[in-house]
Amino acid sequence: MADPIIQASGVVKTYRSRDVVVEALRGVDLQVAAGEMVAIMGPSGSGKTTLLNCLSGLDGIDAGDIKINSRSLSGMSDNALSDYRARFMGFVFQSFNLLPVLSARENVELPLVLAGVGSAAAKTTAMEKLEEVGLADRANHTPAELSGGQAQRVAIARALANEPAIVWADEPTGNLDSENSGEIMNVLLRMNREQGQTFVIVTHSLEVGELADRIVNMRDGAIESERAGTGANSVTAQ
Ligand SMILES: Nc1ncnc2c1ncn2[C@@H]1O[C@H](COP(=O)(O)OP(=O)(O)OP(=O)(O)O)[C@@H](O)[C@H]1O
Ligand SMILES: [Mg+2]
Repeated sequence: MADPIIQASGVVKTYRSRDVVVEALRGVDLQVAAGEMVAIMGPSGSGKTTLLNCLSGLDGIDAGDIKINSRSLSGMSDNALSDYRARFMGFVFQSFNLLPVLSARENVELPLVLAGVGSAAAKTTAMEKLEEVGLADRANHTPAELSGGQAQRVAIARALANEPAIVWADEPTGNLDSENSGEIMNVLLRMNREQGQTFVIVTHSLEVGELADRIVNMRDGAIESERAGTGANSVTAQ
């Protein structure tokens, strides 16, 4: 079997601000197989966002090791890391993070243009991605002209535009009602099944978490327990 696409061992992350020291991650071990969908759950402050930021190389760690595609993040320069993220990773946030002055299509084009794709090809791909999330008819709308659920689908189209191997999502349904959450999860599950992308999704919603292959519960900066979710059919032992 191939190596897990994400291999984290003994990850420690400590925040030091003035006189306060917070041990946000206290030795986290986590392996995620390529094509797996993992939900990270746990109380507020348990370290979920910190873990996502560290695994994706947005934030450095104090001890331990993180490998993505068998390549260790430690020792990579900031430039190499951002290049790695641009080529292998997509991000979806709770607050959508769309640029307000750009249309839906232009928002999806952005990561492609940044990755050096020519403007005509970027436009075509952006339209394809918007179609995949059911929003081709909203391509020229700005974020303010979209509902919350639609804005998040544009953000997903943008995250997937470069066909990243790994998609990180931090509470992607946090600002949505249950109907829109369900729709977002359907889009993510379809991408996972059809394109085999790996998803790591932080969520407070048990309904959302339950759809993943595996649910990882964090508490006080450590993984407390793990169990299978209802999506547990695509991946078994590594
Ligand atoms: N930049 C920072 N500086 C100092 N402490 C931080 C920083 N970011 C997070 N923390 C602390 O680290 C701990 C973990 O925070 P984190 O944001 O990872 O929690 P979380 O599980 O994502 O919580 P939530 O569910 O509320 O989003 C918390 O105690 C938090 O106060
Ligand atoms: Mg968080």
